[in-house]
Amino acid sequence: MHVRRWDYLRSMNQWKTVGIVGAGTMGSGMAQIAAEAGCEVVLVDAHHKALERSKDQLARVMDRLVEKGRRTSEEAAATQGRIRRTTDLVDVKGCDLVIEAIVEQLQAKSDLFKALEGILSEEAVLATNTSSLSVTALAQACDHPNRVLGLHFFNPAPLMALVEVIPALQTNPDLVEHAVANMRAWGKAPAVAKDTPGFIVNRVARPFYSEALRIHEEGLASVADIDASMREVGFRMGPFELMDLIGHDVNHAVTSTVHEAFYGDPRYRPSHVQRQLVAAGWLGQKSGRGFYAYDGKKKVGTEGQPKQGVADRILAMLMNEAVDAVFWQVASAHDVDVAMQKGVNYPKGLLAWAEERGFQHVVAHMDELRGRYGEERYRCSPLLRDMAQSGKSFFQ
Ligand code: NAI
Repeated sequence: MHVRRWDYLRSMNQWKTVGIVGAGTMGSGMAQIAAEAGCEVVLVDAHHKALERSKDQLARVMDRLVEKGRRTSEEAAATQGRIRRTTDLVDVKGCDLVIEAIVEQLQAKSDLFKALEGILSEEAVLATNTSSLSVTALAQACDHPNRVLGLHFFNPAPLMALVEVIPALQTNPDLVEHAVANMRAWGKAPAVAKDTPGFIVNRVARPFYSEALRIHEEGLASVADIDASMREVGFRMGPFELMDLIGHDVNHAVTSTVHEAFYGDPRYRPSHVQRQLVAAGWLGQKSGRGFYAYDGKKKVGTEGQPKQGVADRILAMLMNEAVDAVFWQVASAHDVDVAMQKGVNYPKGLLAWAEERGFQHVVAHMDELRGRYGEERYRCSPLLRDMAQSGKSFFQ
């Protein structure tokens, strides 16, 4: 197969003109980031209303930043002046990079990339913000799959520093480096992830929800006590509060997608209790009821108490998952730790945290769970066992 070498001269340059397709939550955030980094941005949406909403929202954000003294009014005006909004996709012509943030459907994204290839130059880069689709499958839809990659931002994009940089199987390796350098120039913390289900964050974070659900389903602790236990060890929110915020429809769908994509690996099995909440329409804060009841955005009810053993068990599962991601070469140890801190605000990197606790301790906990339940779900990662036996560090 003939693979075009990347244009080295071009790869020395930063992306200057950026197209963003989809002006919803993510697209609007990314447009702000690129514009603040000095890029000329063309923001496209099929709906004029979405563009209007996005514009008004950015104006409010910028006003607040000026009020707080975090931006000068000139900077705020310049940022807003660098974003052009349009419903016509052809207006991205001439862009160095286009990032799509439209609906999470492979067919819609493939159709969009095909259309973009007809508009853009051959050197232009095509990026997807997908959180669950295969970047490789998306690249396959293109005539030049070597210029496709994932740039996965986290919500709210202007505040969360992490960007997972995900090469497809077909992506030119030079482009990965180029993307990492550009994301750094945008003030972001890039982490390179293999194109595997959930990439880094949505894979490694699964036990935060699933083990909490499991403990609750077994009746070992109440929802409020589990939340209090996780807050006590440094998480900003407990798993149930966070699932209520994310929405059980969204959270359950992510778990189900990861579970299916791993051919039914029991470690990622979705929770029956959560499926029931979805069936009842108790989606969390947005529907006024989830695990907790809400009065507007405010949680109703009494706070829980940390309960012995709860945080340890969830943490052991999280640490095991993080080590296993390194074992399967999804990402480097450094990038796994960066991802969880900069993408979902974990108080520490899970690998550094496991090392601090002692790998032996985590192995013992996994073996204890495995012995008690006899389930595959609790298998200890071979790398975690190696680390415990060898006394090595991930970071030396
Ligand atoms: P959203 O629903 O807020 O916005 C999507 C926008 O795309 C809408 O304004 C819609 O009008 C527009 N659109 C849909 N199809 C289009 C097309 N063919 N051409 C032009 N515009 C089109 O969605 P959101 O939440 O911003 O998500 C976008 C993408 O980012 C999805 O792939 C999602 O999985 C991913 N993502 C979402 C995160 C989140 O927390 N919301 C986090 C990380 C990734």
